[in-house]
Amino acid sequence: MPDPKRVAVLISGRGSNMRALVEQARGYEVILVASNRPAAPGVEWARARGLQTWTMDSRGVSRDEFDRTVSSVLKDHRIGTIALAGYMRILTPAFVEEWSGRIVNIHPSLLPKYRGLDTHARAIAARDTTSGCTVHQVTQELDSGEILGSAEVTIEPGDTPEALEQRVRAAEHQLYPRVLAQFVASRRSLLP
Ligand code: GRF
Repeated sequence: MPDPKRVAVLISGRGSNMRALVEQARGYEVILVASNRPAAPGVEWARARGLQTWTMDSRGVSRDEFDRTVSSVLKDHRIGTIALAGYMRILTPAFVEEWSGRIVNIHPSLLPKYRGLDTHARAIAARDTTSGCTVHQVTQELDSGEILGSAEVTIEPGDTPEALEQRVRAAEHQLYPRVLAQFVASRRSLLP
C-alpha cells in the first residue's frame, strides 16, 4: 500500500487550493497535479513550479474509461492520498470504491448545508449569517462523506456571492493544508 504522504491533487481550473496545498505542505508531499482540462491555469502554475503534471481532456471520453485511466496514472506514481481541489467531475463508483478512504475534497459551504453548486448564492438567499468551507472524505454520495474539518466565514449585510466566495476561498487556503496534513497523519498511523 503506497504511503498516504504521497498526495495527488486533482483540479479542473484555477487551482488556488492546489497552490495552497503545495506551498503549505507539511507532513505530506504533492507528487502529482492531475487535470481533466489540459488548459487549466493551475496546471500551468504546477509545471512552472517543477511539479509532475498529468492531463487528459475528459471531453468525449466515457466516464468509466477516463476514471480508469486516472486511476492507473495515480498507481504509476504510487499515490497514497487523492486531494480534489476544484475537480469538476463526479467520480465513478468504481473509482471511489478502488480509492475508498483515501480521497478528500474541499467544498465551499458548511456541510451538510448546501451540497452541490452555487453554495454562496444559496447561503445568502437563505439569509444565513455564517457560511464557510468544509474538508470531507469522498464517498459515493455527493459532498456527503465524513467531515474532517471546517472553517466559518461571516456573511456581511449586503454581501454578494462573489464577495463571499473570495473570503471563503481565503479560508479554504488556510483550512485545506492543515486538514490534509492531519488526515495523512491519521492514515499513516494505520500503516503496519
Ligand atoms: C473552491 O471554492 C472549492 O471549494 C471548490 O472549487 C473551488 C476551487 O477553486 N470545490 P480553486 O480552483 O482551488 O481556486
